[in-house]
Amino acid sequence: PLVPTRELVSKAAAAGRAVAAFNVITLEHAEAITAGASAAGSPVILQISENAVRFHGGRVAPIARAAAEVARACDIDVALHLDHVTDMRLLRTAADAGFSSAMFDAGAQPYADNLAATRAAVEWAHGAGVWLEAELGYVGGKPDAPASAHAAGVRTDPREAASYVADTGVDALAVAVGSSHAMTDRSASLDHELIERLREAVPVPLVLHGSSGVGDEELRRAVRAGIVKINIGTALNIAFTRAVRETLAANPDLTDPRPYLARGREAMAETVRLLLGVVSG
Ligand code: G3H
Ligand code: ZN
Repeated sequence: PLVPTRELVSKAAAAGRAVAAFNVITLEHAEAITAGASAAGSPVILQISENAVRFHGGRVAPIARAAAEVARACDIDVALHLDHVTDMRLLRTAADAGFSSAMFDAGAQPYADNLAATRAAVEWAHGAGVWLEAELGYVGGKPDAPASAHAAGVRTDPREAASYVADTGVDALAVAVGSSHAMTDRSASLDHELIERLREAVPVPLVLHGSSGVGDEELRRAVRAGIVKINIGTALNIAFTRAVRETLAANPDLTDPRPYLARGREAMAETVRLLLGVVSG
């Protein structure tokens, strides 16, 4: 069934676990993620990013409705989240499009600008009943972004984080603790001591972005240190594309997309099952 993000995050926090949020680009992603969640017996968040909406011609409704329908049909609790929103106009469509939560992304902006923009986003979101996540400390690694995510200076400062959360009223905080978006190997090493200090300083759940680049043991330690929501995108695309490529290479005369999409979807579902065993187990 489709449940609110708030519910999944609160349950995970109370149980000392994390809930994984996987990025949905196509219908096959939503099907694979829910199949993997069902196989693992773990709840999951389907998240659609502003970039994915752009891929669908700027229209959020078709992919959001498809993901919501897939979520409703799942035997496991599934929530729908709008990810990395920079455009307030898109944010304002979130509730109508079926999202119970969103991440407003002003993480690349200077502190004062991030604060002002996020405060306005929270005001709208809470009026619409939408749970809002924001980012402080800039995770980086997205296309066209400065490639400085591993520099110490961009890590989230606990004292700044505490006042940011108090001043904006956000429901969850994405923190920069050593991960970076779009890594294709799992070599990131996280600052677990910083995660613990952030957990002590900040009253809302902490979110790890760029988690594809984080290995199993680092993910387990991050959850123990206080991360409650774990965002994963690239890892699914690696699994999907590898399976599609292998299927096409082995069947050069193939024209029907279903055989290769099915193989890609199966590979994604298995990746989801394994990652859920790590973060929600
Ligand atoms: O918000 C989405 C995530 O941060 C995904 O990052 O593609 O590096 O796993 P990733
Ligand atoms: Zn992210």
